[in-house]
Amino acid sequence: MVGIINNAIADLVVQRFGESVWEAVAERARLECPVYDSTRNYDDAETMRIVEALSVELAIAAEDVLFVFGKWWIGYSEKTYGALLRMSGDSFLDCLMSLDALHGRIKMAFPDSHPPSFRVARTEDGRILLHYQSVRAGLGSIVRGILVGIADNMGITLQITEHDDPIDGHRVFEIQPSGLGSWDAINPVG
Ligand code: HEM
Repeated sequence: MVGIINNAIADLVVQRFGESVWEAVAERARLECPVYDSTRNYDDAETMRIVEALSVELAIAAEDVLFVFGKWWIGYSEKTYGALLRMSGDSFLDCLMSLDALHGRIKMAFPDSHPPSFRVARTEDGRILLHYQSVRAGLGSIVRGILVGIADNMGITLQITEHDDPIDGHRVFEIQPSGLGSWDAINPVG
């Protein structure tokens, strides 16, 4: 994973839980040097060791660590990639629609990285289906956390359910704005 991800996790831990918790995580995860070059590629196993160590230190499930990180990531990446995020559009739907292009630009900037890929579809009854494909398994809770983080920033609440695609098993997130009839109530067309 690109070093900025590990640095973002470190930032989350220090800001929310304090320097001593990050030191305990670094020791438990056997990190040689817990400060990363944001532009370099690191072994995914190191990131997963950090997540597992954090899960033990905070006594929460690894999935919850990923969810909390997802919510944190949007604010953190705004600092470094604010322009990229703003180019993604104003509405929640615009943001989702631009996810694939955004990660495509990440791939161009960091050729050794393996960013995820996204596709958006809408059902006849107004739900949004976000198809998420990754070379890595088990990171769906990051997607869920990021979606909730973006929705919080926009003052909307989401209902999210998940399933595996019946054809190739990638994760699909079914998203609906709760309390509002349709996406058009949030993102007027035209
Ligand atoms: C400014 C916004 C964003 C930036 C700059 C960004 C950048 C990145 C970068 C650098 C990585 C690491 C890729 C690698 O090392 O192979 C990554 C991974 C990831 N991104 Fe984004 N991202 C952004 C927004 C989002 C959003 C909105 C979502 C989902 C709703 C998302 C979902 C993910 C997930 C789940 C991963 C983990 C890796 C994987 O699934 O294989 N990202 N992103």
